[in-house]
Amino acid sequence: DWTPQSFVEETVEDLQNNLGNDKVVLGLSGGVDSSVAAMLLHKAIGKNLYCIFVNNGLLRKNEFTDVLEQYKGMGLNVKGVDASARFLDALAGLSDPELKRKAIGRVFIEVFDDEAHLIENVKWLAQGTIYPDVIESVSATGGPSATIKSHHNVGGLPDYMKLKIVEPLKALFKDEVRRVGASMDMDATLLGRHPFPGPGLAIRILGDITAEKVRILQEVDAVFINGLKEWNLYDKVWQAGAMLLPVNSVGVMGDERTYEKCVALRAVESTDGMTADWVNLPYEFLQKTSNDIINKVKGVNRVVYDISSKPPATIEWE
Ligand code: XMP
Repeated sequence: DWTPQSFVEETVEDLQNNLGNDKVVLGLSGGVDSSVAAMLLHKAIGKNLYCIFVNNGLLRKNEFTDVLEQYKGMGLNVKGVDASARFLDALAGLSDPELKRKAIGRVFIEVFDDEAHLIENVKWLAQGTIYPDVIESVSATGGPSATIKSHHNVGGLPDYMKLKIVEPLKALFKDEVRRVGASMDMDATLLGRHPFPGPGLAIRILGDITAEKVRILQEVDAVFINGLKEWNLYDKVWQAGAMLLPVNSVGVMGDERTYEKCVALRAVESTDGMTADWVNLPYEFLQKTSNDIINKVKGVNRVVYDISSKPPATIEWE
């Protein structure tokens, strides 16, 4: 019978046999999969695991510093690399969602490659790929969903890096990954985190990206997510976030007319992201959140709630 404990024992032993004294590099994203993969490898090979956590400048508010600290607290050998400026430069003037994804994927590989080259004699690239990623990337090369959105999690690094690939979670589903993490005493808040897309807020800012728009959306998102946590709704929702719309609308503040940004909030229930239903959040919560956002976040004067399900409406707006 499969148990998380036996999986950990067997995997650690396999990793030790296969990796010996080799060095391994792994990109941490802050998400469940890469974090659990890192813990397994850490158990197996300790300091020979070199983790790299890249700040693409498109993460949630305070995420980079908070999660980096959390990783260090777990004993991981992790280097935080703030490449925000490089990503923003590459995104300048791009509005098309797929072009944005490609630019982010390209810069990520450049940054990661630069960092990996600093590790002398590294032999392996570890990835937090899980079973559904494998399935999805197969269908993405030919299936009907091929051109819907190009997720860049699978596929990895250019050949010239010549690293061998190690993917300890490749046979697991998400709930199994969480159970494996829990059996290694990983923090419940880390394991219970909502999924967050690799291109981050770039695909939640409709149209072109600027530092100011990122800042506005980080503030809005933080009010929404912290609110969900305070109201004990966070764990009842599979994924939630805010979209910054390329729309200004008229408002009044005192005697003044304003003409400011509109944001859309989205919260969905799902099992794998392939289909999703919008969540019927309590009106009192939505009311409070809307007021908080409009009062606290300068530049936003209107909040709407997305009541569309997938299909056809994808979870991300881009
Ligand atoms: P959609 O928007 O296709 O999203 O309904 C389904 C799930 O995938 C995530 N997502 C992405 N993840 N790179 C990622 O790593 C991407 O380009 C990307 N696009 C969407 C989305 O957040 C949801 O969990």
